[in-house]
Amino acid sequence: MVTATQSAFAGDRVWTDTVDSRRAIPASLEHADSHGADASGAWATSSAPTDRAEIRIALPPPALRLPHDSDPDDSDPLGLSTLLYYAVGLTGHDPRAGRWPLHRAVASARCLYPTECQVLLPHGIYRYDATHHHLLKTAELDPGSATRLLHDIGARAALVVTSRPTRTARLYGDYAPRLCAQEAGMTVGALHLTAVASGLDVEIHQDPDILSALGDGWLDSDSDTDSDTDTDTDTEYAMACLAVAPRSGDALSGQTWVPAELAKVVRARHSGPLIFDPVPEPAPRALLDDLARALATSPLPDCSAYLCVNRVSETPCGIYRTVPGDRGWQLIAERDVVPDLERIGQTDGRVSLNFRSAAATVYLAVPRARAVEQYGDDAFRRVHLAAGAAAHRVTIAAACHGLAARVHNGYDAAAAHHALGLSDPGETVVFQLAIGRVGNHAGLRLPVVF
Ligand SMILES: Cc1cc2nc3c(=O)[nH]c(=O)nc-3n(C[C@H](O)[C@H](O)[C@H](O)COP(=O)(O)O)c2cc1C
Repeated sequence: MVTATQSAFAGDRVWTDTVDSRRAIPASLEHADSHGADASGAWATSSAPTDRAEIRIALPPPALRLPHDSDPDDSDPLGLSTLLYYAVGLTGHDPRAGRWPLHRAVASARCLYPTECQVLLPHGIYRYDATHHHLLKTAELDPGSATRLLHDIGARAALVVTSRPTRTARLYGDYAPRLCAQEAGMTVGALHLTAVASGLDVEIHQDPDILSALGDGWLDSDSDTDSDTDTDTDTEYAMACLAVAPRSGDALSGQTWVPAELAKVVRARHSGPLIFDPVPEPAPRALLDDLARALATSPLPDCSAYLCVNRVSETPCGIYRTVPGDRGWQLIAERDVVPDLERIGQTDGRVSLNFRSAAATVYLAVPRARAVEQYGDDAFRRVHLAAGAAAHRVTIAAACHGLAARVHNGYDAAAAHHALGLSDPGETVVFQLAIGRVGNHAGLRLPVVF
């Protein structure tokens, strides 16, 4: 018998959609509410409604510095407070009327925040409530079965990244699954980076059977998955799980990339103002080194990056590439990239942002055809998780240099394929991220600290 939880994840059409989508943002969005979350920010951070008796655990304050070498707090031996805050936590508040009021550590299309994080511990499963920096008990689990599940994946705790596409579908209709899968991937990337910086061993699980077993009994699933009502119900899907445990080996290996001041960098990360129109000044050359190292050590490495350099010190303008295993950029074509960028980066026939003043633009490409062959209907979720994890690293590498990185889905994948010189017809560009310095008009962002 297939349980409701299993059927809600396995084979559900939500994630089988458009692994090779070439759709631009629908024109109907031109008329959509431009504020995304309502003024109270209710969509932005609230935990899903629940009629279960509420048990809340206030987490201790997150560490102010990461990586850190302080002794773990007895009440939170794994440092979950720090881990959750710097990956799914509420980091900024824009108090001005009509703005998206709340911002998290990870970017989210129009701040709709469909992604949540559930924490499986031996005594139960807890939802992270970003608004209050609390854990909220979702379900009591039989201690034997929880311990067994954790043992099976070699973890002291499991962080299950879930997505509620209804939140995004409210504005984006059937384009929502793509955005949600991308954001889930970015959140996986953020949790991974923070876990490594927190001194934890971390392993990412994407296998549907593991996710079904982990979600059994608590996921808010829609049992009628054959209906077309997915956008009417608040179905929650398990997207990936991170198994964490205290680090078994020595300190951080040189194989990984963790910014020296990760906590500060995450708090400073932002996507720039509504219209991305950066100051036309060169970014430092060190940005490219950080980007290359960040991408080379991305935890789900099956994705290639193309970099269009427009304004970077001591670096010729042109198209560069890095593939899994590389630790640097290879120059593919030295030329003025602005005409390419303006041809690729269009939304409904208009250029999506000011590429002329951007320092550089990153495109992430995934092996779509190979993934479909290997994973069938599950390819969509997997390629977006991998690209999302890399995309988050791009935003953090930019923030290390005081630069904004803007994910923008207004681009033409076929034009990108051609202009960037992708040779494999089975490869598809799934992310466009423009990087630049956005002067004082970035918006008012008050820090939120707990
Ligand atoms: C998957 C994804 C897709 C996005 N697509 C667009 C887009 O098409 N156009 C745009 O202007 N911003 C886009 N954004 C940027 C978000 O609107 C931005 O991250 C959000 O306003 C939050 O701002 P913050 O990252 O500064 O907190 C996207 C972000 C994500 C994560």
